[in-house]
Amino acid sequence: MPDLTKPVPAAPAYSGPTRVFSGVQPSGSLHLGNYLGALVKFVAMQDSHECIFCVVDLHAITVPQDPERLAAQTREIAAAYLASGVDPKRSIIFPQSAVTAHAELAWIFNCVARMGWLERMTQYKEKSQGKDAENISVGLFDYPVLQAADILAYKATHVPVGEDQKQHLELSRDIAGRFNREFNAPDFFPLPEPLHQGPGARIMSLRDGSKKMSKSDPSDASRINLLDEADSIAKKIKRATSDSEPLPETVDGLKGRNEAANLVGIYAVLAGQTEADVLREFGGKGFGVFKPALAELAVAKLGPVATEMRRLMADPAEVDRVLRDGADRARAIAAPIMDDVRRVVGFWRP
Ligand code: TYM
Repeated sequence: MPDLTKPVPAAPAYSGPTRVFSGVQPSGSLHLGNYLGALVKFVAMQDSHECIFCVVDLHAITVPQDPERLAAQTREIAAAYLASGVDPKRSIIFPQSAVTAHAELAWIFNCVARMGWLERMTQYKEKSQGKDAENISVGLFDYPVLQAADILAYKATHVPVGEDQKQHLELSRDIAGRFNREFNAPDFFPLPEPLHQGPGARIMSLRDGSKKMSKSDPSDASRINLLDEADSIAKKIKRATSDSEPLPETVDGLKGRNEAANLVGIYAVLAGQTEADVLREFGGKGFGVFKPALAELAVAKLGPVATEMRRLMADPAEVDRVLRDGADRARAIAAPIMDDVRRVVGFWRP
């Protein structure tokens, strides 16, 4: 029996290869927050890292999904990855449910994670708030354990995500650390590093700069959907909540001006500039000048992504080829890791 009361010797640093893993749920349409907080970063990482990008359909069913639409939604997320520039030759794109290692490792991690850890997860608290316990699935509670399994089934070391995933990533690190200690395998799993810094990590609602842009917001005007038409994108930006002051000359001047900070941040990421660059150009100018410039930039950047997504969604065979090939490659990476996990846990093996 492992004795968890004894001090643990300092774990040797994980010395395996670096590997990137991230995932997006196939539930509802993708928005600008998903694009800037996740997809743009995925594309940036594939030049320097081995990358695995998953469509997390097992996570999606923690709340009811229409079985008639789930596979199409999975293809839609894969199409968004491809249209954003993820290269399926270099990176792996696959559906989570096609690789059984995720569910198997999640079960093992269920026996490592602690109830208290999960009870503290703010996303679970928000999603279950006001709901009758009879109507919340066990899966919704367990969601972050499956997320840890996603990452660690590949011993991924880096995880590009939006800032809202910070707490889930900390839990993944806790689970990895506790597994390593409990099974006396000090450097078995890496402690995955979340990459959620920089502008884009937290895109806010266009209606209320204190709330994050979200697919569950009842107001469609609060978000830009990746598949929005150009005129709808422009309209939403022009109607976005702002204030009556001109833009400040420096980034410091954005403090306390949530809506202005959000729009400047969006401009910066879309243009590949810093916020300081944007304010050098637009400082002192009002929203009457800035919003049309932002609308034009957003349409120019997002239009081609939407066009390519639509093309791919009209050709499911092409997307399916990518997903099938991705699932094969993902399985090949996870299989030896899962063999080792079974050995470490002590399961029977012939
Ligand atoms: P999901 O599908 O809710 O979100 C996908 C990605 O979009 C980011 N995001 C945002 N970024 C900036 N501003 C926003 N307003 C915004 N809204 C969403 C999310 O942070 C995320 O990176 N639990 C994950 C899916 C997941 C996963 C994983 C991620 C499952 N297993 C393993 C990484 C590693 C999620 O909520 O996805």
